[in-house]
Amino acid sequence: MTTTADYTEKIPNNVHLHEDRRLQRALESWQPNFLNWWQTMGPTLPTHDVYLRTAVNVGRDGWAQFGHVAMPEYRWGIFLAERDPGRTVGFGEHKGEPVWAKVPGEYRAELQRLIVIQGDTEPASVEQQRNLGATAPSLYDLRNLFQVNVEEGRHLWAMVYLLHAYFGREGREEAEELLHRNSGSLDSPRILGAFNEETPDWLSFFMFTYFTDRDGKYQLGTLKESAFDPLSRTCEFMLKEEAHHMMVGTTGVDRVVQRTVEVMREHDTDDVGGLGAIPLPVIQKYLNFHYSVSLDLFGGETSTNVANYYTAGLKGRWLEDRRKDDHKLTSDAIMVDALSEDANGELSIGQTEVSALVGLNTDLRREYIADCQGGVKRWNRILEEGGVRQRLKLPHVAFNRKVGAFAAIEATPDGEKIPAQEWERRQGDWLPTDVDKTYVRSLMQPVHQRGKIAAWIAPPRNGINGQPFDYDYVHLA
Ligand SMILES: [Fe+2]
Ligand SMILES: [Fe+2]
Repeated sequence: MTTTADYTEKIPNNVHLHEDRRLQRALESWQPNFLNWWQTMGPTLPTHDVYLRTAVNVGRDGWAQFGHVAMPEYRWGIFLAERDPGRTVGFGEHKGEPVWAKVPGEYRAELQRLIVIQGDTEPASVEQQRNLGATAPSLYDLRNLFQVNVEEGRHLWAMVYLLHAYFGREGREEAEELLHRNSGSLDSPRILGAFNEETPDWLSFFMFTYFTDRDGKYQLGTLKESAFDPLSRTCEFMLKEEAHHMMVGTTGVDRVVQRTVEVMREHDTDDVGGLGAIPLPVIQKYLNFHYSVSLDLFGGETSTNVANYYTAGLKGRWLEDRRKDDHKLTSDAIMVDALSEDANGELSIGQTEVSALVGLNTDLRREYIADCQGGVKRWNRILEEGGVRQRLKLPHVAFNRKVGAFAAIEATPDGEKIPAQEWERRQGDWLPTDVDKTYVRSLMQPVHQRGKIAAWIAPPRNGINGQPFDYDYVHLA
């Protein structure tokens, strides 16, 4: 298989689409529906063109090209990482067998479900972010928003390709449904909770790309291990694009914190609320919210479904091949978060031991949490270097949970269990209040002039693809 995409086709691809006329026709008839979705649910700010990266190759040396593109003419395509002909299943009961080029009948329903759930998140985030362009703090940020948006659109294409190519009529119906469900819709919402929350301001956007997109990275990491080779190769390439989304979130929060520190020092005060910057306690509340709703995306601490996915070879662990165990886990155990009950029936936050297979969600969430700590460490370094004594931190796993062991209780960010009335009284200390949100929104005045930036955020250290910050990243219509 060649790795260079064929751009002469209606749908750019590196999967030899022209050799399968039926599939090609099916995808070409989905394409106008996708474009219609992009026009009605995608970015609302009218633009002439945007300096975007487009995938052209999946190989090691250079995979993307940059140029000004009118967004509706973006070449959304289908790209799978190169096939490794000797690849074998890395875990579960099929460990060591050759990977699957087709969907085995006995796993069809499960694989389809996994692909639909992943696919549903991709367009959802575009919908959540559709109005942000109107309040972008700079053309650089505006360009990054649109880059994330077009690539989430491409990730939808990636999942729809799998549905069309391997799941027949049912797959095509699911592909239609991916365009019909909408984020926040009362009648047909997106499948997962965090993807129905709104992203009303840029602090939310940066927290979303840091915490929620990072959940996506970990989910893709488990699917990249799949014995179903086309899914594995699709996810491998998506992860490459995802790195930029992580960068947008990480450096976005960096720059907000940086600016807050500068204003704190300039005015020698912690209270930067009236001074056009975002106070550290508000940043902490946004962090608390986005982190806790993202933890919910990992599902319950224990799951027999996920145990079965693993045993069957459908979904592995994060960096499966670096794990030093038998990759079957049939006799291993893991401690997972749980509520324990004492002799008086009093519940408390604790842990319990379960079989490693059943605890796989916990394993993945732990990898994610360790990764999230990296961002907090980074932001705290900015505070330290700025001579500010406050620090940011991740709240306890029991804080503000709607899924899993701690959904039934309320807890403080320090992990202290509290009664429901106390939670009602104090949650405004820990989660963004209407006052906080209104203040943040009041700062969201658009800065659409080249080389200029809003006062609540510091400029980036580097531009995109070697271009300076004051480059004309976006031409507005
Ligand atoms: Fe994505
Ligand atoms: Fe992403």
